[in-house]
Amino acid sequence: MYGLINKAIGEMVCSHFGEKAWDDIRRQAELEIREFVSMDTYPDDLTHRLVKAAGEVLQLSPAQVMHAFGEYWVEFVSKTGYEALMEMSGDTLPEFLHNLDDLHTRLGVSFPEFCPPAFQADEPNEHTVNLHYHSEREGLAPMVMGLVKGLGDRFDTEVDVVHIQQKSEGADHDEFSIQYRENSACDINARDINARDMNFNDVDEESKR
Ligand code: HEM
Repeated sequence: MYGLINKAIGEMVCSHFGEKAWDDIRRQAELEIREFVSMDTYPDDLTHRLVKAAGEVLQLSPAQVMHAFGEYWVEFVSKTGYEALMEMSGDTLPEFLHNLDDLHTRLGVSFPEFCPPAFQADEPNEHTVNLHYHSEREGLAPMVMGLVKGLGDRFDTEVDVVHIQQKSEGADHDEFSIQYRENSACDINARDINARDMNFNDVDEESKR
């Protein structure tokens, strides 16, 4: 996988657990590389070794590490030069999920050896998206669940993600049922009204002077 992914794993660990934890993980994974180059490709096995070692050092399951990494990735890409692309991909969670394939197609220009996932989204009913995930790789489904959670945070939307079909159990591909609820406009209005009240009070205070 591209070095950008391994780099982001390192940054996630350092920002949440400190440099020492990352050094321990690198040692445990028998990693000789000190710095990953974002645009170089590395064997997938190296990423899996890092995830396994992170689980051992941090006492988490590999699935928990992958989930946390998915959540972190959404934030990471937007501060590493890809925010414009993220913005182009949608203003709401369902819109963004529908555009995941376009997003990765656009990235193919910058990453010539890209082996991207394929996604397909359908909406069986209001506030539910079923996300179909196809990959040539194994074991990344927990990362997708974390990615959806991270996207929910990005769009201020509560999500409940259920893994309804698993490739690891013989299905053709993984499928997730995502129930979502946008944090209501009423909450925002309530905040705005409070803010306005505060401003009115300020004006009152001013007019008394
Ligand atoms: C602008 C933002 C993004 C960038 C720069 C980006 C970039 C990448 C890169 C470089 C890879 C490694 C592929 C390879 O080395 O062959 C990858 C894989 C992946 N990306 Fe994205 N990505 C972005 C957003 C997303 C989002 C929002 C999702 C949400 C579902 C996502 C889902 C995945 C998955 C699941 C993989 C693993 C590959 C596989 O399943 O085989 N990505 N992405």
